[in-house]
Amino acid sequence: MNILPLLITIAGSVFFACTYGQLHPDIPSRYRALPPLREQARILDAWKEERISRIPALLKKYDIDAWLMSMREHAEDPVWWSIKNATQFAAHRRTVLLFHTNTSYLAGRPNPLVWVDNTGQVWDDLRFILMQYQSKRIALNTDKNIAFGGGLHVGEWLELYEQLPYEWMKAVSEPMLAVEYIATRVSGQLGYYRLLQETVWAMIEEAFSERVIKPGATSTVDLEWWFREKIQAQNLSTWVHPRVSVITPESFPGWAGTDDIIREGDLLHVDFGVTAMGMNTDTQHMAYVLRTSEGETDAPNGLIEGIKKANRMQDLVLSQMKPGKTGNAVLQSSLKQMETESITGQIYCHPIGDYAHAPGAVMGKPISVSASLRIMTFLVGFTNLPEYVPVLGELPILPETWYSIELYAYHFVPERKETLRFRLEETVYWVDEQRGWDFVYGRQERLHLINWPPSDVHGSKLLVQS
Ligand SMILES: *[C@@H]1O[C@H](CO)[C@@H](O)[C@H](O)[C@H]1NC(C)=O
Ligand SMILES: *[C@@H]1O[C@H](CO)[C@@H](O)[C@H](O)[C@H]1NC(C)=O
Ligand SMILES: *[C@@H]1O[C@H](CO)[C@@H](O)[C@H](O)[C@H]1NC(C)=O
Repeated sequence: MNILPLLITIAGSVFFACTYGQLHPDIPSRYRALPPLREQARILDAWKEERISRIPALLKKYDIDAWLMSMREHAEDPVWWSIKNATQFAAHRRTVLLFHTNTSYLAGRPNPLVWVDNTGQVWDDLRFILMQYQSKRIALNTDKNIAFGGGLHVGEWLELYEQLPYEWMKAVSEPMLAVEYIATRVSGQLGYYRLLQETVWAMIEEAFSERVIKPGATSTVDLEWWFREKIQAQNLSTWVHPRVSVITPESFPGWAGTDDIIREGDLLHVDFGVTAMGMNTDTQHMAYVLRTSEGETDAPNGLIEGIKKANRMQDLVLSQMKPGKTGNAVLQSSLKQMETESITGQIYCHPIGDYAHAPGAVMGKPISVSASLRIMTFLVGFTNLPEYVPVLGELPILPETWYSIELYAYHFVPERKETLRFRLEETVYWVDEQRGWDFVYGRQERLHLINWPPSDVHGSKLLVQS
């Protein structure tokens, strides 16, 4: 028997246990088209069916008999956006949804039961059904901390209070229903998500090049609007205004880029995302503007090393991110690892999918909390929270959720005699026990280089009038 293939397999799995899938692709990324809208709708509805079919089991897991949602047009429960049909753009009139465990009286009935009502008849129907169904534990989305589990508007809650017997209004809040339902991917999504990620890379590779940036003329704000227009030209939309920065010791992760003319020798950063087919991306890359006027052909070594350090942090976080562990546990063991390797930086990872900042476990911790960071209390990102993140940090890592590995490493750059933040963000998905997490498309390991002036098709530099 030839044991060589077996040895290679074993060696391969050891290898994959500590590195992760495709890293920085060797060939340029391409803009990838998505199917026509009508075909997308068919695909989206199939995903939705697959997701909804898991709800009875989810209810049983949390010992819930029925999950009741009530909403009016334009004040939808966040969960509605993850259960709606592809051709629905709002919940009409008063929409009431009842998910059930598909047993006893309701076995085989549509799940959810849906009412679109403007006469009040829904309440008679609902009382009758709940009576027959003999539900004991009804879940309502009334959680105080987790947005996705707290989507029942106060007006709707008052209405339910009047319409349903008091017995049922002792309903339970179980935010994990919404968290797990919204966070859980279905396998068909990954292929399309990878196409979206490649398009994001293609966009960054184009933006961070001499095709778009002319040092001394193009500004970071020009580049932000370039991204906006490009996203639209690709028939995509977005959930965030792109943020482009010139990185200096003072520039830190915030809710805006910097406002600078881009110059030779600048270290650039972008943080942006796109939206399509009910999915969102969230990516951060860095670039260097070569000092071509001085004959420079590569970035200074200190900057190259900074990216490597941020890559090492990604590896540390991924090696600690075991499904079932809480976000806080992952955070604390990652920080311990960083300390062992004398790496300082900040981790602020989050789930991503139906929302860019999707429900589920976050892993977040700052190194130094500045006053301005302190006021940025936003639900994810957590650049403002210490080693322990309440509520969301205590949720478990779920294997069927995608996570954005968002972080920065501090690195002293000798050529500039200053310490800079190397900020990277890339999305991972769970492959299996053996291979762990893998990057959906790849991860940045080399700086994008702006090599002005542009070359012609044969690679010779074009003479550009300045
Ligand atoms: C989606 O469409 C199907 C078929 O028309 C319908 O039965 C279902 O109630 C719709 N879903 C929602 C959330 O309205
Ligand atoms: C609901 O129950 C029926 C039988 O009553 C079964 O055929 C169907 O597969 C069940 N659906 C789910 C989602 O469990
Ligand atoms: C965007 O959609 C329009 C209209 O369907 C189409 O003509 C165009 O080719 C699409 N652009 C890209 C980049 O896919």
